[in-house]
Amino acid sequence: MSRLVVVSNRVAPIKAGKAAAGGLAVGVYDALRQSGGIWFGWNGDISADPPINSEQVGNITYVTLGLTKRDYDQYYRGFSNATLWPIFHYRIDLARYDRDEYEGYRRVNQMLAQKLKPLLKPDDIIWIHDYHLIPFAEECRRLGIRNRIGFFLHIPFPPPEILTVIPPHNELLKTLCYYDLIGFQTETDRLAFQDYMTREVRGVIEADGSLTAYGQNFRSGVYPIGVVPNEIQQLGETYKGRRHPMRRTSDTARKTIISVDRLDYSKGLVERFKAYEAFLDRFPEHRRNVEFFQIAPTSRSDVRTYQSIRRQLESEAGHINGRLSDLDWTPLHYLNKSHERRILMGLFRSASIGFVTPLRDGMNLVAKEYVAAQNPEDPGVLVLSRFAGAARELTSALIVNPYDCIGMAEALDRALRMPLAERRDRYEHMMRAIRAADLSAWRDNFLRDLRAFVSQPRE
Ligand code: F6P
Repeated sequence: MSRLVVVSNRVAPIKAGKAAAGGLAVGVYDALRQSGGIWFGWNGDISADPPINSEQVGNITYVTLGLTKRDYDQYYRGFSNATLWPIFHYRIDLARYDRDEYEGYRRVNQMLAQKLKPLLKPDDIIWIHDYHLIPFAEECRRLGIRNRIGFFLHIPFPPPEILTVIPPHNELLKTLCYYDLIGFQTETDRLAFQDYMTREVRGVIEADGSLTAYGQNFRSGVYPIGVVPNEIQQLGETYKGRRHPMRRTSDTARKTIISVDRLDYSKGLVERFKAYEAFLDRFPEHRRNVEFFQIAPTSRSDVRTYQSIRRQLESEAGHINGRLSDLDWTPLHYLNKSHERRILMGLFRSASIGFVTPLRDGMNLVAKEYVAAQNPEDPGVLVLSRFAGAARELTSALIVNPYDCIGMAEALDRALRMPLAERRDRYEHMMRAIRAADLSAWRDNFLRDLRAFVSQPRE
């Protein structure tokens, strides 16, 4: 079997169960841990003359390098996170475009492909992840790399009307056509991509379902990323930490609501805080009987839009607690500290509600993790935004619209009152979906299709 080479912007240090920085890191790490291979990308450092470092841990070789300050500013902080991220999350209002940053983005993709080339063997399968690396395959082809190359987009793909706001959208999307296979989280994302390719650039859908555009023939597919349910269940069961704040013990009837997100405007945190406040106002009988834990490690804190969402959240949290707290009750616990995975899974298990309400999200693995961590005998309820990719599969969650503050407040009330039999039914239904599309299915289906695809010969 050919070797797997994974490339992602950030090579996350998830070794020995350490905390993860997001769905991509968890998914890639687990996928690689099973098959072994190389994980290539940025080490998270800024350095003047970035050397390449290689480290073998178990069956994974981590090959990482730093970025110069200029590369970081233009490629990561600039085009990736101040242009692509907001636009792909439907937030034209928060996006900006700078031509130098776009050129920096292209330059870094070229540099990364050049550094990867000497590490490759002819039959390696190369799997590229996420929006930072859209032009990576084109750079590889230019360097004469002929390996199979697949791309998976972890975030949503916007409709063409939104995508075309990016001035070089045509040039950017053309680079995507150099992949053999392009994977999306949901059918909505894949259709938006197909729509762009057929309407904007007159690409053609071939009889075998493949696409031809810009003179390239390639395939697209839907591969919802999943979790490893048994492992999560075990972690949830075994965490009995001393400082566990949310154990359902016999001496306290207080229930808990939990949310875990990177501190990002796409996650709908301000709307969520407001909905929680509305819930306490409309259903005062729950006051003192419930506490909400929002864990939100800071992220991309040198991007202006992230600084402003952080200020808003601090103000909302202060407002809610100032107005409603009592000497022996704090309604909202807002923590910017990140936590180890095993602790999070333990917290999920003991929380009565998983409150996952992004304004737009590729998948949102927290939704799946929350469900997988539950006690099957007495499961909690998932309250889930219809705009998370996970809502396509977890149809037995209480589905909410995060723009509807009162609707979310009512869902919290309904979840807290839900009878055990209904909670179990919903849980079992969601677990079937989670098992059917687990992490191995994501990896195996994508790699199977990448290996199987025979494209038209490239010129
Ligand atoms: O899942 C989206 C994503 O941007 C990943 O590509 C990334 O690993 C994660 O979020 C965390 O973001 P960052 O690397 O910018 O901290």
